[in-house]
Amino acid sequence: MRELLSKERLESGVAAMAQQVSQCYGDRPLTILGVLTGSIVLLADLIRMLEMPLRVGVVQASSYRGQTTRGRLTINSDLMPDVHGRDVLLVDDIFDTGHTINEVMAKVRQLGPTSIRCAVLLRKTGRQEIDLDPDFVAFDIPDEFVVGYGLDYRDAYRNLSFVAALEPDDLEEDPA
Ligand code: IMP
Ligand code: MG
Repeated sequence: MRELLSKERLESGVAAMAQQVSQCYGDRPLTILGVLTGSIVLLADLIRMLEMPLRVGVVQASSYRGQTTRGRLTINSDLMPDVHGRDVLLVDDIFDTGHTINEVMAKVRQLGPTSIRCAVLLRKTGRQEIDLDPDFVAFDIPDEFVVGYGLDYRDAYRNLSFVAALEPDDLEEDPA
């Protein structure tokens, strides 16, 4: 694999995004919803850079099923806190086609939040299929399959402190 974003670049990119989020909401209480499982590392770093009154919850969305191709999306909101009348910020690892964020946002919208925005660590260039622009993006990246900092390939590599693009050889091997 080939390193795309170093630990240091990730840290400053996330800090810059946290600053934009802070500017947007000011001192208003915020409910952050992390999309499991890819958002966990970003979620942990981002929330510690925010100073408004904050509630943190999670929602599970799975479509990749450990592969690099899309499957059917399932959303499990059982773990989600009450979002009615709240300002909600959805946090995810990557905006690829946009289907995941779009569907999770639609689900949250049904629950009557005051507002709903989304923040992603990465946005892949030229892959968007949904007419929706993420409100906060830390990095735009080329169209390559990436892992690390929460992102997985067949459930492996989430623990890398950097983001790397997988090479064709990596994609053939079973990482776990
Ligand atoms: P979308 O619905 O096409 O936007 O895909 C979003 C989801 O697909 C993300 O939450 C990731 O779980 C997964 N995904 C998309 N691209 C990558 C990648 O390059 N590496 C790892 N996971 C990815
Ligand atoms: Mg994901």
